[in-house]
Amino acid sequence: MHSATELPPEPLVFAPLDPAAARPLSPLQEEILRLKRERRAVILAHNYQVDEIQQVADFVGDSLGLSYKAAETQADVVVFCGVHFMAETAKIVNPSRPVLLPDLAAGCSLSESCPAAELAEYKRANPGVYVVAYINCSAEVKALSDVICTSGNAVKIVGNVPADREILFVPDQNLGQWVAKQTGRAMHLWPGSCYAHVLYSVRVLETVKARFPGAPLVAHPECVEAVRDMADMVCSTEKMVAYCAESPADTFIIATETGMLNRLRREVAGKRFVAAPTEHCGCNDCRFMKMNTLEKLRDCLAAGTPEVSVPEATLEAARAPILRMLEWSR
Ligand code: 13P
Ligand code: SF4
Repeated sequence: MHSATELPPEPLVFAPLDPAAARPLSPLQEEILRLKRERRAVILAHNYQVDEIQQVADFVGDSLGLSYKAAETQADVVVFCGVHFMAETAKIVNPSRPVLLPDLAAGCSLSESCPAAELAEYKRANPGVYVVAYINCSAEVKALSDVICTSGNAVKIVGNVPADREILFVPDQNLGQWVAKQTGRAMHLWPGSCYAHVLYSVRVLETVKARFPGAPLVAHPECVEAVRDMADMVCSTEKMVAYCAESPADTFIIATETGMLNRLRREVAGKRFVAAPTEHCGCNDCRFMKMNTLEKLRDCLAAGTPEVSVPEATLEAARAPILRMLEWSR
């Protein structure tokens, strides 16, 4: 436990990129691009990937944007630089194409907090409940759900659920609580959370705000309520890009996984981004997202493996709630 007098970690500051400075690709990145052309592959990367992977990706985005790209792609192979549930989602929406994940062990604490057997048991005990599942869950959990949402469309999706249905929101209690507040819709919340986003504390963020006066605090809805309540903006990673671009401020404190700041710095020119520290560290890397490396990306493109697979029956059952989400959020 930290004492109130202990100094918080030094925050990491991402200064604006010099627009005149060339950022040449490394030989490894060039090799990846060559393999990508040879294999007629598309590289989809989540905003939380390391900068070097984001640089070679065809598309960098949030879970929602990546789902659309995965559904639409005509490439022969999809290489998904993200975590397992995201690659599974790509496979479900585009089952005829191989989907590769550079490290198959890249999981997600939030996804693990909702085992399918426990959700099935809950549904047996509560027949008629309408299950809204945040996309950060396994294919088996999606298969048991009525509709999927991402942090970018959760408010819209919950708003679309018939008013007479009782809702169970899985697996993130923090996002669920935020959505319930935004929509005024009561929901039962599954007690899951993201191990990384719950590390932010009001105590540390107050010291960062004092150090960068006037800098808006932008937080992901997976953060705990006390952090969301002190934020100037709570939104998905994709919306963070638009918010920072449109805001007159020149410095922002970003309370989400550190990879996001690479995307912000590349796409929102001339502004400064401060990574919100946790109680223990100046940055907040998700240990699962950071399991993907350039070397593993090269190896998986070269070998055409590891490939994500979803059993046929699960894939069929999981597709309907995902397609419902894509339709409702257009
Ligand atoms: P987005 O929904 O903003 O892409 O975030 C996904 C995620 O894993 C957050 O921790
Ligand atoms: Fe899962 Fe959290 Fe990592 Fe996102 S940041 S992939 S929710 S563990």
